[in-house]
Amino acid sequence: GGTLYDLAEAKGRYFGTALTQSNLSNSTLTAVAGAQFDMVTPGNEMKWDTTQPSATTFNFGPGDQIVSFAKAHSMRVRGHTLVWHSQLPSWVSSLPTAQVQAAMENHITTQATHYKGQVYSWDVVNEPFNEDGSLRTSAFYNAMGSGYIADALRTARAADPNAKLYLNDYNIEGVNAKSDAMYQLVSSLKSQGVPIDGVGLESHFIVGQVPSTMKANIQRFAALGLDVAVTELDDRMQVPASAANLAQQATDYATVIANCLAVSGCVGISQWGVGDADSWIPGAFGGYGAATMYDDNYQPKASYRSSVTAL
Ligand code: XIL
Repeated sequence: GGTLYDLAEAKGRYFGTALTQSNLSNSTLTAVAGAQFDMVTPGNEMKWDTTQPSATTFNFGPGDQIVSFAKAHSMRVRGHTLVWHSQLPSWVSSLPTAQVQAAMENHITTQATHYKGQVYSWDVVNEPFNEDGSLRTSAFYNAMGSGYIADALRTARAADPNAKLYLNDYNIEGVNAKSDAMYQLVSSLKSQGVPIDGVGLESHFIVGQVPSTMKANIQRFAALGLDVAVTELDDRMQVPASAANLAQQATDYATVIANCLAVSGCVGISQWGVGDADSWIPGAFGGYGAATMYDDNYQPKASYRSSVTAL
């Protein structure tokens, strides 16, 4: 008792982490993952560049390893992701536009069928929006216009009717132009009967910058009858970390958890990685790090203790 997932489950929620294939050979990391978390998101192993590196080659081995780890530890899996402009092999982005829809549908159908019954949810489309709320240009948008999103959702539903289907993005945690656009999109999809079950708020925060409107934002999506999940939580700071920033991170984690627990439609929270040593932050944001609840030696930080208290 008393772990993140025990406490989350007592409130009808889950508490997850991202895991990559290389993480599975770190026994310190996997011990913490198995003890504290009840949901796994593959960090990279279900992205298009891994699962379909060429038009005629599917590779589910790495994703299957993550699913096996999850099953062995009684954890569920958030499938991530079917359609994304990034980590997309060049054979897709260089297809003639007339061939993109068939390629997308084949990718979704093959991957979602492979994992049918094994994933709790799919991030069907990842990061569809620009910061101003316009849809990003991508191979999919260029070929199909905005309709690619409804087509992707319908294709995923047909392949695995029991998986919860999500749209996932970053900088949509608070009320702003980008989250307004997501709100308009999912409202419209629902009113047209397009299968959509949830919205994922990635939640890659900077210390002290959890939006004050996060709870209200979760509430408005939930009021549409959608699930909301915090899908990729981390809270970065400049490194070396200061005591003040580590204390602020503890406050921020507690705030995010409280924002989710305040809304019954907020189904769970996932951190993006187990600890600071395996976090993507130092590689993606130069000079930043210390973004998770566990330090470089997988010892719990103040943000772990505040999370336990908040749950
Ligand atoms: C990141 C991974 O953690 C990195 O290993 C990879 O190099 C880039 O992608 N939003 C997402 C995730 O939806 O898939 C991203 O994961 C982080 C940002």
